[in-house]
Order: sequence, then structure tokens, then C-alpha cells
Amino acid sequence: MPNVKLTDNLYWVGAVDWNIRYFHGPAYSTHRGTTYNAYLVIDDQITLVDTVYRPFSGELIRHISEIVDPSKINNVIINHVETDHSGSLPLIMELAPNAKIFCTQRGKEGLEKHYFGGWDYNVVKTGDELNTGKKTFAFVEAPMLHWPDSMFTYVKEDAVLLPNDAFGQHIATNFRFDDEVDVNEVMDEAAKYYANILLPFSLLVLKKLDEVTKMGIDIKMIGPSHGIIWRKDPSKIINAYVKWASGEAERKALVIYDTMWESTEKMAKAVVDGITAEGVTAKLFKLSASDRNDIIKEMINAKAVIVGSPTINNDILPNVAPLLDDLKGLKPKNKIGMAFGSFGWGGGAVKTIEEKLRAAGLEILDESLTVKWVPTPEELDHCFSAGRMIAQRI
Ligand code: FEO
Repeated sequence: MPNVKLTDNLYWVGAVDWNIRYFHGPAYSTHRGTTYNAYLVIDDQITLVDTVYRPFSGELIRHISEIVDPSKINNVIINHVETDHSGSLPLIMELAPNAKIFCTQRGKEGLEKHYFGGWDYNVVKTGDELNTGKKTFAFVEAPMLHWPDSMFTYVKEDAVLLPNDAFGQHIATNFRFDDEVDVNEVMDEAAKYYANILLPFSLLVLKKLDEVTKMGIDIKMIGPSHGIIWRKDPSKIINAYVKWASGEAERKALVIYDTMWESTEKMAKAVVDGITAEGVTAKLFKLSASDRNDIIKEMINAKAVIVGSPTINNDILPNVAPLLDDLKGLKPKNKIGMAFGSFGWGGGAVKTIEEKLRAAGLEILDESLTVKWVPTPEELDHCFSAGRMIAQRI
């Protein structure tokens, strides 16, 4: 695909990865692929903002070469060390060995520990600027959004914010802007991205958004390092981030479970029926039939997370554990939780689920549901009533 202009002399020169289905190793499912967005600014000095994942370096170089000889690059701004963005830096530095690298102190440390380049680093911090002639690049450190080295770059004259991973989405497309695509699909991926990557750093997100707001800068466009560029309405994603980071929930519950011989499944469905009987949205997810990252996305605006597992070896089913471990790391805010499950001769699963939900910061409801062997109609009525109670709490 051809280069794309964001503004006069500010180009997208990234790459589209249509086929990636898992990101961060096996940790994050990317059903819609992704893009690695890099930006080139032509001025008296030529500046590249971020690079792309190394296997896509050919696309990066081709896009740059259509605009300018890569050896003419004077500055490389590295907003983030993670290799999906810095992976082509060694190649860029081979082509433009005199280029200066602009990054945070932790960025410098990270780049050296990844590539051992011994390059010409210019360490920047919040408030520092790079003037390249007619354009000014202002830097804003953004530690833990989502790595310690992360920073945002703001191109003042164009009012374009290049915040790297923040505001991104894993979605592959040959269209680059929010006004060219189905924005609901983009928001769905943005929510998944936030829930699976940025959720633990929500307090820092709110602080950073407040800091940027107080700086009073005009933001006409946001060019993240993955997915679509926010051109038509950058406030849409900013407002969504405020909502997600604040832990704002809707009248919605998730009932997540797995089952051995359908007893726990019967309980799960009765709980869902009880919740919806009160007019509250409930979504049912059987873990072995669902994508864990998609469940986590659904959790972002749910008030209640109800988890069920039968007992095996005095504990939960092996495929229930990863979700609970993810929740412990993600630490969702302002949510209530409850456990349920069937057992044969000795329990244990419900206790483990409660412990893990508590460790993830959820408020655990007093009620917990256990059933020996197969639930009776009365026991299913009890599950239904528990669902009603959950809905009332929501
Ligand atoms: Fe933190 Fe897209 O890398």
C-alpha cells in the first residue's frame, strides 16, 4: 500500500501484519491482525518516529524510500523499546549511521540491552523539545504506559500526538484513519487492547490524561503505533480511556465457567437466568469454547464477574486457572465477584476461585454456590436466586 499523509510532510510509513494471530507470545489473541505504525516527518532535518517489527523492515524501508533516501534521516525518535516498534532500528542505523536517537533514559538503557548498538543517544524528558526547522517535537514521558521507557511525542505545528501503544488497536487494514473504517470495530479492538494491556496502569492513565489536558495542547490527530489513526474524532478514544481507566461499569455481569459433566454448566445457566430476570445484562462464557482475551475485553465494562468450576484434585479445572491468573495481574477496579461449582466427594474449586478473585481485588459476595454431583431443581432454584441477588447488587 502507498504512503499516507497525516498532514503536510508528516507521513505514515509503517507496515500491515494481516496474519498475526497471537501477540506477546501466546498471551494476546489478535483475530484481526495488527499494524506497526511508524511516522516520517520531512523538514530541514528528517525525523523518523518509531520503526516496525523486524520481519516488516522491508515495508518500512520501502515506504521511507518512496519519500526520501533513508540515509538522509537525521533523527530517530523511539517512543518505546518493545521490539514490535524498535525491531528495525538496527537496520535504520545501518542505513543512516549518523542519525541521532531521541528516547527516555530508560529507553536508552532498553535499546542498548536489546541491540548493543552504542549509538548516539539524546536522552529526553517531559518538556524537552526537538526543533527540526519548521516543526517542533515535544516529548512527554509516560512511564508504565505501558513499559517504564514509554513516552509520547507531540508534533506541535501539526497538533499531532504520537503516543505509541496508547490509544492503539490490533487491527490490520489498508485504511489508516477512523473516518475510513467501521469505527465500532475499531473501538471493539481498542477496548480489548486497553483491557488486556493497559488495565493495570489505569491510575497512571488517568494521571497522564490529566497532565496532557492541563498542558492545554490542541490534539487534532492521534497516531498510535498500532491500528487506526484518530483523525475525525480523537476525543472518542480519549473519552473511552477516561471511562475504562475510571472503572466505570454498566449493568452487566459475566458468568465464566467450565464443566466436566454439565453440572457446573447447569448452575452457570441458572445464575445467568436469575441475573437477566432482573433486567441486567449477563454474558455466559464457557472457557473451553471462548477466547480468554475476548472475555477480558467484555469484563472492562462489567460490574460482576462470576466464575465457576467443578472440583478436580481438590482444585479448579486447569483451564480455569489462566483467566484467574490474568485477573490477578490486571487488577480490575470496582467489580464484585462470586464463585460456584459442583463437586463429587470433596470440594475445593470454589475456595480457590474466591481466593483468586480476592487477590485480583474483587469484592467477593457472601454467597457462594456448591452442588454435590448433579444439581436438584431446588439447587438450581437457589442458583437462580443467587443470580437475582447479583443483579440487585449491580
Ligand atoms: Fe508495547 Fe506495541 O508494544
